[in-house]
Amino acid sequence: MIVQRILPFAKELITSHIHSDSTVIDATCGNGHDTLFLAQSVPNGHVYGCDIQQTAIDATRLKTKAFDHVTLVHTGHENMISHIHSAHLERLDAAIFNLGYLPKGDKHIVTQPDTTITAIERIFEYLRPEGIIVLVVYPGHPEGQVESEQVYRYLQNFDQQQAHILQYGFINQQNNPPYVIAIEKR
Ligand SMILES: C[S@@+](CC[C@H](N)C(=O)[O-])C[C@H]1O[C@@H](n2cnc3c(N)ncnc32)[C@H](O)[C@@H]1O
Repeated sequence: MIVQRILPFAKELITSHIHSDSTVIDATCGNGHDTLFLAQSVPNGHVYGCDIQQTAIDATRLKTKAFDHVTLVHTGHENMISHIHSAHLERLDAAIFNLGYLPKGDKHIVTQPDTTITAIERIFEYLRPEGIIVLVVYPGHPEGQVESEQVYRYLQNFDQQQAHILQYGFINQQNNPPYVIAIEKR
């Protein structure tokens, strides 16, 4: 298959921008699937994960308990940078945001445009050149639609001298399917 589905493509973007000793961020831990993937991808590096729900942090801790290079913080991604050790911050190569609500969780707890944009700005500031921020965006529910529009508008106006920004998604699927945005620092 040449055309990749959304989540595999998001993961491949991350894989192609990191090294074994990179520092990486899971900005929305949820059930910890992405945190586990990141922990396996940077065996000599460090993974920082955060979520505003304690249950998500607990689930992610359980899923990644075999790894000692994972730090989980019960906080919003807009605060994540301030929790990263300075030695790790110098090797920050990637961050992933899986926006929206937690599947099988409380659907009222969703990522918000303002804090998502603040988090992108802060993480981008510390990202190494050629590092990447990957967003999986879910415009298929009402709050997700608003967030998708605001984040998209913000990124459309991002200085092209500072980053390459691409969008990847299926254009013939019904009900506003999820899509990927990748922000690669120049
Ligand atoms: C789509 S889920 C993430 C799924 C996760 N990547 C997985 O593999 O299971 C979105 C998560 O973002 C969290 N969230 C919402 N606002 C947040 C914020 N400001 N900072 C960090 N996490 C947030 C929610 O609590 C929810 O767990």
